[in-house]
Amino acid sequence: MSVFYNSQTNQFYLHTKNSSYVMELYENHLAHSYWGSRVNAIPNLEHYYPFWFGADFSATDIPGRRFNSTDKLPQEYPTYGTGDMRSPALQVENAAGDSITRLRYESHRILEGKPPLSGLPATYGDDCETLEITLSDELTGVTAVLNYTVFPEKDVLTRSVRIENRGNTACTLEKAASFCLDLHQDGFEVIHLHGAWAKERHIQRLPQSAATMVFDSKRGASSHNENPFIALVRPETTEDRGDAYGFCLVYSGNFSAEVSGEQYGSTRVQMGIQPFGFSWELKPGESFQSPEAIMVYSSNGLGEMSRRFHKIIRQNVCRGKFRDTERPVLINNWEATYFSFNQEKILALAEKAKAIGVDLMVLDDGWFGKRDADNCSLGDWVVDKRKLPDGLESLCQKVNDLGMQFGLWFEPEMISPDSDLYRSHPDWCIHVDGRPRTEGRHQLILDLTRPEACDYIVDSVCTVLNSCPISYVKWDMNRHMTEMPRKGFTHQYILGLYRVLEEITSRFPDILFESCSGGGGRFDAGMLYYMPQTWTSDDTDAVERLYIQEGTNLVYPISTMGAHISAVPNHQVGRTTPVAFRSKVAMMGRFGLELDLGRLDDETLETLSKEIALYKTYQQDIHQGDLYRLLSPYKGRTAAYEIVSDKRVLVFVMNITGAPCQAPLMLKLQGLNPDGQYKDPATGIVYEGRTLMGAGIPLDTRRDHQDFLTVFEVYGA
Ligand code: GLA
Repeated sequence: MSVFYNSQTNQFYLHTKNSSYVMELYENHLAHSYWGSRVNAIPNLEHYYPFWFGADFSATDIPGRRFNSTDKLPQEYPTYGTGDMRSPALQVENAAGDSITRLRYESHRILEGKPPLSGLPATYGDDCETLEITLSDELTGVTAVLNYTVFPEKDVLTRSVRIENRGNTACTLEKAASFCLDLHQDGFEVIHLHGAWAKERHIQRLPQSAATMVFDSKRGASSHNENPFIALVRPETTEDRGDAYGFCLVYSGNFSAEVSGEQYGSTRVQMGIQPFGFSWELKPGESFQSPEAIMVYSSNGLGEMSRRFHKIIRQNVCRGKFRDTERPVLINNWEATYFSFNQEKILALAEKAKAIGVDLMVLDDGWFGKRDADNCSLGDWVVDKRKLPDGLESLCQKVNDLGMQFGLWFEPEMISPDSDLYRSHPDWCIHVDGRPRTEGRHQLILDLTRPEACDYIVDSVCTVLNSCPISYVKWDMNRHMTEMPRKGFTHQYILGLYRVLEEITSRFPDILFESCSGGGGRFDAGMLYYMPQTWTSDDTDAVERLYIQEGTNLVYPISTMGAHISAVPNHQVGRTTPVAFRSKVAMMGRFGLELDLGRLDDETLETLSKEIALYKTYQQDIHQGDLYRLLSPYKGRTAAYEIVSDKRVLVFVMNITGAPCQAPLMLKLQGLNPDGQYKDPATGIVYEGRTLMGAGIPLDTRRDHQDFLTVFEVYGA
């Protein structure tokens, strides 16, 4: 039993294999007691606070108790207006015009498994138990149903909240965080994933400030700039040591993560839909569902935290046929041709790709309307007969005849002002009457709060997908939102998007979908629920990718990260790196190619062919195994990653810059059975796990852009 209520002590226990999360009913307030390594029982809150230590300046709404005010009490879902002066999780404007909510415990129930969240992506599965705690405001009827789901074997818990209006008058939600957590200490360091287009998810680790730190997006998408993930760690926490608390929101729109250092040395962490620009009216009887947050505690550093996120996202967020199976190695024509292609060019590329072992030809932007540049035709999902005179069916057939699958790019949420769709429905884009419609990349966004726009997307995309055997879809989204016509709009948009994605992906279960947003501008667990992989970045340079990919795999599994070998000099940064180095970097993701094979010499093609075969041999180990980050590009000139699967141990080393006169770098492996036997098939030598972890393996790091893949077969235990 992983969820347990102790009626003697009024405590709720949520246990995973290695951690416990404990709450207490404190005078009918839901208080936070503990989150950390597994405990069987802990004393009540007042035991840990034998005296009160702060000035009594707070309004006293719990008379006669040590925590005599909600301003002092560590809380699970705080509100504003009756004592707690900190940032509330829930902010409601009541019919009377005030913003006061007073939530008190009403009831709880424990459920096997986990109910789905209406209209939203979320973790799923039957390897879990759920605790539902209902808190309500007696006067207004505003009710918060807090959901805690525990995945005991995966050492993960999730939280979300449903706000119900059980009163007689309408009210308006101005903020409804997915969770709040009052940790009993401060002095943490906060890790967040910062970036920009082509520079996504760079890791930043900042000392916690005494004020509020906010990491957020107001762009209408989770964004390149901040990711809906943060971690709190102790200053001494490393990859394999120390406390790490990780939080990841299963959501693709505007979000906010707040970390506040509080007056009495505690820390309040909250995450949820971005309150800026948010507003949601709740009529009597209506309810609002928040997105879900996935929460991981690790006492063994960031590496263990990441592995727990990887497993839950891989197995309990991603869905469908491709979740656990091998996926095709693809070639995408974007960086090979950009908009300038025709049937002959695509078939020539496909033919060359087939010869070196590629399985799938993806036709990117430019196949529809009259799109020779990025300034027209989005919305007109009809093949451009100038480029493909025999139509898509014929191209698809010819690619299939080569023994390859065929895939296609769409950007369905968009509309170009120069498009037939816009000429017939100028009101379907997001706009405010009387204001100019701000364009981004010469395009506007379809208003997915309008059912007719959603229906159009479903119909037009499905018509193309039904027209020929398409095996893969890249779903792109290339600008951020402006002229939102009302508060709460961006969330309504995301709900519309999720409906469209559910409809299309469930109609085509055999198609592999990859999401994209100018690279990784919507790399979040929400999108991964519908599409099991995301194009990680428009920056395809192998060195740049090391930083982007390490930031991404801090939370997201490498099985979800699209990574391609592209041309040199690289199109984004002009750097030249060897093809084997580029290949190893791409193997640390969903491996593919994106370059004009017609420009490569035979030697490079041969190397590529060998690299593809190598990837295919180890694809399942790479994507189902446990990842250990051994050397970080953020800390030195060599990146090293180890993947441990049931059958093998793979060690990838990418040397960014070399240096002469170096002794071998002894790379110590992790996560092996010390008594286990591991055979290096190249030499036939069998090592004990403790040898590989203790003494390590020697590496030559003298040369720039050198790569190594060392494989050990699990030989015996
Ligand atoms: C975005 C994607 C690219 C490519 C272009 C096409 O930028 O990230 O991979 O598909 O759009 O316009």
